[in-house]
Amino acid sequence: MIDELNTIETSAVAAIEGATSLAALAEVKTEVFGKSAPLAKAQRSLGTLPPEDRKSAGRAVNESRGRIERALDAHRSSLAEAERATQLVAERLDLTEVPEGATVGHAHIVTQAWQALEDVFVGMGFRVAEGPEVETDWHNFDALNIPPGHPARDGFDTIYVDHGRPGTTLLRTHTSPVQIRTMLDQEPPIYIVAPGRVFRRDTADATHMPVFHQLEGLVVDRDISLADLAGTIEAFTEAYFGPGFTSRLRPNYFPFTEPSAEFDIQRPDGSWLELGGCGMVHPNVLNAGGIDPERWTGFAFGFGIDRLAAMKYGVDDLRELFTGDVRFLNQF
Ligand code: PHE
Repeated sequence: MIDELNTIETSAVAAIEGATSLAALAEVKTEVFGKSAPLAKAQRSLGTLPPEDRKSAGRAVNESRGRIERALDAHRSSLAEAERATQLVAERLDLTEVPEGATVGHAHIVTQAWQALEDVFVGMGFRVAEGPEVETDWHNFDALNIPPGHPARDGFDTIYVDHGRPGTTLLRTHTSPVQIRTMLDQEPPIYIVAPGRVFRRDTADATHMPVFHQLEGLVVDRDISLADLAGTIEAFTEAYFGPGFTSRLRPNYFPFTEPSAEFDIQRPDGSWLELGGCGMVHPNVLNAGGIDPERWTGFAFGFGIDRLAAMKYGVDDLRELFTGDVRFLNQF
C-alpha cells in the first residue's frame, strides 16, 4: 500500500510540475484528484484492509493527498506569476514614443505673440502682473476715473455678471484694472506689464471680437515724464518688431491718463499701424491706488495682442484666429 502510494504521489507531482500553463494544470488537477484517479482508488481500497491497518493506511493516503495539493498550489502560483509577467510585456505601451507620421502641436499664434511680448518687456526690466477676468465696477471704472454716469462707461459695451447689486460685477472691458490692483498691492517703484483676456459686448467681425487680449503696461516711479513713456514705446517697438520700425504718439483722450495719446507703429515701408492708448497716469488714479501723486508720477499704456498677431502672420480676419480649425492653425 505504502509503495503504491509513493508511486501515485511521484507520478502525480511529476504531472503537476510538467504542466506549462494554468489551463494544462487545471486538467492535471482533475486527472490527479478525479473519481477514477489512482489516489481515489487507493482511498476506496482502504475499506478492504483489515481494521488494524486501516488507520495508518488512511493517514498515509491523507498525507500523500496533502503533499500533492501543496505541489499543485505551489506550481499554480509560479505559473500565474509567469503568465502575468508575459502579459505585462505583451501589453506594454511605449508612451514616450511619437508614432510615425504623427504631428506635434504648437502654441496658438496669439499665445506666441503674448509670450514674445512678455519676453520683450521682461528684458526691459518689467515684471508680469495678473488680475481677475471677472471684476468689480470699481476696479474697472471708478478707480480709473470713470465714475457712474461718465460717458466713457457707455463706450465700453460692458458685459455684466449676475452677482451682487446689479451693475457691480462685470467681465473686465480692458486690462487697466490691473493697474489699480498692482498699485494697491505694492509700493512704487512699479514696472509691470499685464497681458490678459478682456470682454466687450461686440458682434464679431473681421476687426472686432467680443473676447480678445490686451497687454497693459504701468510704470510708477520718481520724476517719470512723457519722454520716458515715448522712449519706452520706442524701445519696445524696436525690440518686438525689429529694426526699421518706429513709433509715434498722437493726442487722444482717456479718463485715466492725462495727457493721453494714441500710439502708432510705422513699418519699414512707411505705412502706419494704430496699436493702442497710453498717457501719464491721472492723479485721481494714483490716489485710488493709494499712491501719493505729489511724490510719484507714472505712465500707462495698453494695446490689443490679437491684432498684433494677426498683422505679424498676415491674417486679415480676426475671427479666423478663434475658430480652432487645425487647417488654419497648422499654417503657422
Ligand atoms: N484701457 C485702454 C483701452 O482699452 C487702453 C489704455 C491703457 C489707454 C492705458 C491708456 C492707458 O482702450
